[in-house]
Amino acid sequence: MVLDKDPEAIAAAEVLRHEDGRVTVVHGGFARMAEHLEELGITKVDGVLLDLGVSSPQIDDAGRGFSFMREGPLDMRMDTSSGITAAQWLAEASVEEIKEVIAHYGEERFAFQIAKAVVARRESRPLCTTLDLAELVASVVRTREKGQHPATRTFQAIRIYLNQELEELAHALAALLRILAPGGRLSVISFHSLEDRMVKQCIAAAAKPGAAQARLPIPEKDMPQPILKSLGRVLPNEAEVSGNVRARSAVLRVAERTTTPLPADGGVSFVPVSGLIKTTATKRGTGARRPGRSAQSARRGS
Ligand SMILES: C[S@@+](CC[C@H](N)C(=O)[O-])C[C@H]1O[C@@H](n2cnc3c(N)ncnc32)[C@H](O)[C@@H]1O
Repeated sequence: MVLDKDPEAIAAAEVLRHEDGRVTVVHGGFARMAEHLEELGITKVDGVLLDLGVSSPQIDDAGRGFSFMREGPLDMRMDTSSGITAAQWLAEASVEEIKEVIAHYGEERFAFQIAKAVVARRESRPLCTTLDLAELVASVVRTREKGQHPATRTFQAIRIYLNQELEELAHALAALLRILAPGGRLSVISFHSLEDRMVKQCIAAAAKPGAAQARLPIPEKDMPQPILKSLGRVLPNEAEVSGNVRARSAVLRVAERTTTPLPADGGVSFVPVSGLIKTTATKRGTGARRPGRSAQSARRGS
């Protein structure tokens, strides 16, 4: 099964599907991979590859609104069939909400100044295009990072937030632990540190579930046993980066499922959810869920 929330990626996959009769193409989010597999009658898998983030077709098509270098509508949705656009969100969100998203998901030092500038600007004219936003951000971000456009962090943050990328990843990791057969492998390619940290922490917690009790006088046989065995991390080599410069920030982490049964919570205790923003902003949209609420349900295991 191949899964993507972008209808255009799905259309491309449908064309390629005819080259291999084993492939089933599904339009949907990674968070619901277990449900999609169940609909196909599959409850266990031997391998999952999560290739996270945005694709080159999404960045290169100005009409998708992901690029601060190309003039286009301020959209930034991976799934263009639901949710709200970046323009809609920026037209309504408060200074505090915008600041929180940009500071947290973009790790941007000038988040407050950017948020204030967005709200001041929309009083006179709405922010409709990518260049409207890129130029506004460039006017308030005073220190430039080498080789980086001043709007890089802001665009990354809004994209992560609108597409609920970290929340989807948290749910996907919890699902992966449930559906991997013993000996099955999970491979995750991430493109920024927030995602990679989440994957790393999940694998570490599942590989060493007794770490917190290590100093307690508990006999070895009573210690929680590993759910995953980490097989390490792979970074792109020079040849790969020179062939595709967008690969430079990629990190591939691989782990293997052991035979140990999952704990009673279904493994959700291994999934870090503390980095998710609690906000009501996406409730204005067409069916997008609230990150904060779902983060809590991930913790509860629903
Ligand atoms: C880095 S691209 C890789 C695309 C594909 N693997 C390829 O090599 O052409 C990431 C893709 O994942 C999709 N994506 C990102 N997060 C997703 C999620 N939570 N659920 C479903 N698809 C997602 C994006 O729409 C995008 O098409």
